[in-house]
Amino acid sequence: MASIQYFLFTSLLLFCFSPSLAQQSFRPKALVIPVSKDASTLQYVTTINQRTPSVPIDVVVDLGGRYMWVDCDRNYVSSTYRPARCNSAQCSAAGANGCGDCFGGPRPGCNNNTCGVGPDNSITHLGTSGEVAEDVVSLQSTDGKNPGRVVTVPKFLFACAPTFLLQGLASGVVGMAGFGRYKIGLPSQFAAAFSFHRKFAVCLSSSTSAKGVIFFGDGPYVFLPGVDASQSLTYTPLFINPISTANSFPLGEPSAEYFIGVKSIKVNEKAVSVNTTLLSFDNSEGVGGTKISTVDPYTVLEASIFKAVTDAFVKEAAAMNITRVAAVAPFEVCFSSKNILSTRLGPAVPSIDLVLQNQNVFWRIFGANSMVQVSSDVLCLGFINGGSNPRTSIVIGGKQIEDNLLQFDQATSRLGFSSSLLGRQTTCANFNFTSTA
Ligand SMILES: *[C@@H]1O[C@H](CO)[C@@H](O)[C@H](O)[C@H]1NC(C)=O
Ligand SMILES: *[C@@H]1O[C@H](CO)[C@@H](O)[C@H](O)[C@H]1NC(C)=O
Ligand SMILES: *[C@@H]1O[C@H](CO)[C@@H](O)[C@H](O)[C@H]1NC(C)=O
Ligand SMILES: *[C@@H]1O[C@H](CO)[C@@H](O)[C@H](O)[C@H]1NC(C)=O
Repeated sequence: MASIQYFLFTSLLLFCFSPSLAQQSFRPKALVIPVSKDASTLQYVTTINQRTPSVPIDVVVDLGGRYMWVDCDRNYVSSTYRPARCNSAQCSAAGANGCGDCFGGPRPGCNNNTCGVGPDNSITHLGTSGEVAEDVVSLQSTDGKNPGRVVTVPKFLFACAPTFLLQGLASGVVGMAGFGRYKIGLPSQFAAAFSFHRKFAVCLSSSTSAKGVIFFGDGPYVFLPGVDASQSLTYTPLFINPISTANSFPLGEPSAEYFIGVKSIKVNEKAVSVNTTLLSFDNSEGVGGTKISTVDPYTVLEASIFKAVTDAFVKEAAAMNITRVAAVAPFEVCFSSKNILSTRLGPAVPSIDLVLQNQNVFWRIFGANSMVQVSSDVLCLGFINGGSNPRTSIVIGGKQIEDNLLQFDQATSRLGFSSSLLGRQTTCANFNFTSTA
């Protein structure tokens, strides 16, 4: 009884006097951030406001990444930076195991008695270690149609990394933002801060000059001229790979990445023969399966799957009088654009279906998502040969998810996908960024 009263008393005190809670009497239902496509690296970059005073920082979107990491060695100035002390709740939320001191500090990224994690650059596959810390992050709320009031997460957890980890990232970027299934992934932290559903939706623009969008929370997700993409989703289960796919990770940690259950592949609605063993994970090593990635610009297929799919595609294209021409790296299958008609869904080429939990549930990839224009008269199939024995057999890359809305529901382990929004006369670049705040 005494302890209950004590608890009530302290929570009342916290409620009345905590400035962070008082400021947030407005509780957003969803949040929105812009995503641009970097023309030279083809990376997807978002902007988040962090620190005190607040500065906009550009970070690469890593769908399967575990948390946000930023360069703390260069230009990190903030009066609200707090390193996570050894054995604190922050350290355990971050899955930190190490605990140590840093000589040469104190400064952001270098403090004594702090815990560390192993941030990854998932593009170069370099990893290192860095201090766990928290700082203020702010972003715009949304009603699904426009951005609204700015809201603040006072103690957003992230990892510090040294400047060298930025190698290979788009110019101006200071880190990577992990949207993976992890306690301190962006979706989990925002959902916890504002008590909304553990859902987020990604809609990447195919244009390097018009921004796409990521929503945290439930729909509506409205694109001009008033298309609510949350109303036309097909659902498929998300699977957890029991073995982490990160560079370094605590033993026994499952992968934070998003895997789906592709059971077969069709080209122009005809089944392609693939080795189905490659389509599921080997549970002892976590090899195989199909994941979605924003750090691979194009879909990467294990060598035998690549051969089966491209052979079928070439055959179907020939039947449509499409002329094959010499390959243009990194692609192996290219065509003259001369006999290829253009449609609302992009170049008229054979469709590619990823068949999911049953024959009626498939993700159809049309020309807009399969073909890459490499010159004025050559189009290439935007799939890459991943060689034999890759860790993951099918990695669905950025090109194939552009102008599709993908909703990840972490609570129910379900992916909602829209197929190409071009068929609904809109694109991922059509979110109305005019603020109504
Ligand atoms: C950490 O502690 C050591 C002594 O154990 C001290 O020399 C060093 O300056 C301290 N570093 C920081 C960042 O406080
Ligand atoms: C299918 O793939 C598995 C895993 O790589 C391999 O062990 C097996 O030999 C393959 N089967 C065929 C028929 O190629
Ligand atoms: C392909 O070209 C041949 C010969 O020019 C023609 O007979 C046939 O109808 C064409 N097929 C298609 C699908 O356009
Ligand atoms: C975008 O939203 C603003 C604010 O609601 C509205 O005034 C404007 O008309 C919208 N733009 C378009 C093209 O509908």
